[in-house]
Amino acid sequence: MSLSAVDDRNADQIAYWNGPGGHHWTDRQQLQDLVLGPVSAVLINRAAPKAGETAVDVGCGCGATTFDLAKRVGPDGHVTGIDISEPMLNRARELAPGGASIDFILADATVHPFRPASTDLLFSRFGVMFFATPAISFANMRKALRPNGRLVFACWRTPRDNPWMMLGLQQAYKHVPKLPEMKPEDPGPFAFASEERVHRILSEAGFARIEMERVDLALDIATGRGLDAALESVLTIGPTSRALEGQPPDKIAAATQSIRDMLKDHLKGDTVPLGGSIWIVTAANGG
Ligand SMILES: C[S@@+](CC[C@H](N)C(=O)[O-])C[C@H]1O[C@@H](n2cnc3c(N)ncnc32)[C@H](O)[C@@H]1O
Repeated sequence: MSLSAVDDRNADQIAYWNGPGGHHWTDRQQLQDLVLGPVSAVLINRAAPKAGETAVDVGCGCGATTFDLAKRVGPDGHVTGIDISEPMLNRARELAPGGASIDFILADATVHPFRPASTDLLFSRFGVMFFATPAISFANMRKALRPNGRLVFACWRTPRDNPWMMLGLQQAYKHVPKLPEMKPEDPGPFAFASEERVHRILSEAGFARIEMERVDLALDIATGRGLDAALESVLTIGPTSRALEGQPPDKIAAATQSIRDMLKDHLKGDTVPLGGSIWIVTAANGG
């Protein structure tokens, strides 16, 4: 299985999600799904998939939300998960519940020839912030929607609103060099933090009735398993792990100690709940 049509402008992301990013997510998939459980709960409720509907889960990764959607649309519905990451899709295929009405496509959502007007719901949990040309990608995905179809996705608000991702990084920066600075519109987890930008992209792509709701959540990065588990979470996924990659062992050890000390202050029983903040974005097919 290989990626067929791709937009070359997404080449860096394709390399990342088939390389270190995809492997980290695949390794941590089960725990990451627990950490992000509160996001899924809010998002699926907002998307309100109904029995018999068809949905596309964009950037579905290892498939957790694809399976949730499939449960809601039932045997008369269908869910397609699309992703550029072969390792993540392989895991999704392994985990897919038998008999569920699901298929997975290894493809770039920017250019994939979706079956026109075939889908009730375009859905994503954090899978749509990585496009080099987002208005073009969303215009392409919109073609899959039925005339009365809807778009519902979650994206992160600013780094400052997301201490669950940034607190570890601040500690790491006491010991290792900063990551190359990203511009606010560069593809990446925070690319859709700006409300104005998301409205602009979706309007350009032909969506209507665009709404963005801020939702603040506590994310337990320890998944109920105490301080060591929280530390492992910070060290293996997200910006802190990227900042520590390839650094000398003594620097990594010093950063690890600083992060552990910081996390201790947030420990509540066996949980380490840290603040996360997302937009739930909804829109209708503008026709
Ligand atoms: C942060 S992960 C989220 C994965 C999954 N939705 C979840 O919540 O567990 C982002 C996902 O978007 C996928 N992705 C990035 N660019 C894409 C593109 N152009 N087409 C399809 N998927 C893409 C990545 O491969 C990755 O699986």
